[in-house]
Amino acid sequence: MKYRYALLALLFLCCKPNPQSQEPTETEIQTAVDNLLREMSLSEKIGQMSQYSQPTIASGPERNPQKSDMYHDMIREGKIGSFLWTWTSEITRELQEIAVNESRLGIPLLFAVDIIHGYKTIFPIPLGEAASWDLDAIEQSARIAAIEATAAGIHWTFAPMVDIARDSRWGRIAEGAGEDPYLGSEIARARVKGFQGNSLYEKNTMLACAKHMAAYGAAEGGRDYNTTDMSDRVLREIYLPPFKAAIDAGVATIMSAFNELNGIPATGNRYLLTEILRQEWGFDGLVVSDWTSINEMVIHGAAADDAEAAELAMLAGVDMDMMGDLYQSHLHHLVQSGRISETQIDQSVRHILTLKHKLGLFKDPFRYCDAEREQHVVFHPDHLLAARDIAAKSIVLLKNRTRTLPLEPRMAKIAVIGPLADNHKELNGTWAATGEADRSVTLLEGITSAVSKETEVLYEKGCDILSDDRSGIDRAVQLAQQADAIVLNVGESADMSGEAKSRADLDLPGVQLDLVKALAATQKPLVVVLTNGRALAIPEVDELADAILETWFLGTQTGHAISDVLFGKVNPSGKLPVTFPRHVGQIPLYYNHKNTGRPDLGNGDYTSKYLDIDNEPLYPFGFGLSYTTFEYADLKLDKQTLPMKDTLNITVKIRNSGNRKGRETVQLYIRDVAARAIGRPVKELKRFAQIDLAPGEEKIVGFSLNAKDFSFYRHDNRFAPEPGLIKIMVGGNSKNVLETTCTLLSGV
Ligand code: BGC
Repeated sequence: MKYRYALLALLFLCCKPNPQSQEPTETEIQTAVDNLLREMSLSEKIGQMSQYSQPTIASGPERNPQKSDMYHDMIREGKIGSFLWTWTSEITRELQEIAVNESRLGIPLLFAVDIIHGYKTIFPIPLGEAASWDLDAIEQSARIAAIEATAAGIHWTFAPMVDIARDSRWGRIAEGAGEDPYLGSEIARARVKGFQGNSLYEKNTMLACAKHMAAYGAAEGGRDYNTTDMSDRVLREIYLPPFKAAIDAGVATIMSAFNELNGIPATGNRYLLTEILRQEWGFDGLVVSDWTSINEMVIHGAAADDAEAAELAMLAGVDMDMMGDLYQSHLHHLVQSGRISETQIDQSVRHILTLKHKLGLFKDPFRYCDAEREQHVVFHPDHLLAARDIAAKSIVLLKNRTRTLPLEPRMAKIAVIGPLADNHKELNGTWAATGEADRSVTLLEGITSAVSKETEVLYEKGCDILSDDRSGIDRAVQLAQQADAIVLNVGESADMSGEAKSRADLDLPGVQLDLVKALAATQKPLVVVLTNGRALAIPEVDELADAILETWFLGTQTGHAISDVLFGKVNPSGKLPVTFPRHVGQIPLYYNHKNTGRPDLGNGDYTSKYLDIDNEPLYPFGFGLSYTTFEYADLKLDKQTLPMKDTLNITVKIRNSGNRKGRETVQLYIRDVAARAIGRPVKELKRFAQIDLAPGEEKIVGFSLNAKDFSFYRHDNRFAPEPGLIKIMVGGNSKNVLETTCTLLSGV
């Protein structure tokens, strides 16, 4: 005991606060870490590299389920460096007390939870937030999540998930920013900044984790955990940029992926986790495995047994074993037998201890678990306001025939129908385990509080989300016949997207389409509100509904946010971060595809198309309507020929040609028309800007592009531009654009 205090005192001396702030400098931290490493036994080092979940909570197959008191003993023996799925100020304090007071070296524990879109105040699912294209709002949502979570003792979130996904059958598309590497990179940066703030030393900032490295979103057939295989060019141009962006934004940790990439499981993939991550990009933070992803290398067939799996993960560069218990069981022997060097172990432990220092845990291990602060910040009114604001901004207006929307809040009778319209359980969506479903406002509650006192709100469920019971449809129709307008909330349940929630169909589950048809037949104005965690293929709904709002899963403020849009308090401004297909058979369908040698131009046979369905999506990437209209004109470049070292300045005029104030997201795409031996995508998003316009108002929006924006992995594998013709396209979505060209000059 005495020894431990002497050691801690020594560490604090080495960590003397610098006079400007309490925050230790890099040098002070490294000295303290080196000193501590010298004191640690091999078993204590391996303990730091081992992470376990609380006994009752699992987000994967359970391994070696431990009783709490067994964990307590392991903490005392210095065999645990971090817990996941562990929160509340009391629980984290109790475990931290054991670590600090009862283990030999008193090294504080690191507590991690998947705070994906909020702690208690739940924000829209990440795919929904991405539809806002509002980077400040996205950063703010992550900031608030961190403020609430850190008060509950959580130091580390396993977010943002920055996996690009071009296949909506994959359930985890809900957790990311959609299909585009540029938008995905901007959002990755915003989320990292939000979680980590300006300094990890602040009590209300937390470690972020960019996951899952890499290409997990490219799972074959959209089936979770499935194999991925792709060229290095696709890997580097599509799947890796958001990871790089997160690292440039200072992300503290990276999680390895479950999938095999080009024959090698990502968790044992040295090319990804060391050569690219550390050697090319200079990442010096912590790499954690995914839940038992080290063990799964045996099942992949890439390791003969657990010991070899542990060895491969170490050699690849995984510092911490999440839930696998393999580092704990095998590293000792691997070091003794010379297969892993102790220097390598030290390197991993250094990554872990450095972050514990950066969080200030050595100075005050209890600074995050603060019951009073937790009480004060969770569900803080400011957080609820922010959640309502970003939830409304995430809504995408997909259709609005003859201005069905906005609705009149003083109408006599409104029918609210659908299995999701008054269903607290579903509103928070996937990955919201720390949230409280009862606190989330349903659409029925939101509409009831938004309409006038005289308005009668009628409600009927109509059918379930999944069952084939049609018995409620007639009742819903009778109710609808009495109303002035119908708001019908259909879609997926919360557990139909997220991890291990792949779907082979992308239509409305159960008999919900029958409900849509029956209500459309009443000829009453029909507003369909979609709740779902992916792009759906819903051409019939598009034909039948008068208006459609894509609302994803919006979290705590769901009902209020949707009502704000329904009744026109908020003019919708969301734009799709993912292409909506007409049919699941079109998948993968994404806007930045290649042209092929025989593109379908509607003029004949032997072209790249289906016999039975159009190539066109139902709604393209970047699409979203407003209650007003925007006109684009005067797309201009400041030069027609561009020396490579120069900047290209682009301007475009946008006018609000409707009669409401509105927000437009102006999107700039390019196409490299002839890139010497390499075919480039037909469009690539390179910039976007959001502008607010009053009715009749016009603004000139300017963008600048430089050589880096025209660069790609060329035939010689260099990331550089090629001289030649470039198309510049600007519009309010990826399909309807103004277009001009410029020529990139060689060399100069
Ligand atoms: C998921 C990760 C998550 C981890 C811990 C895994 O199953 O793939 O994204 O962070 O569980 O909950």
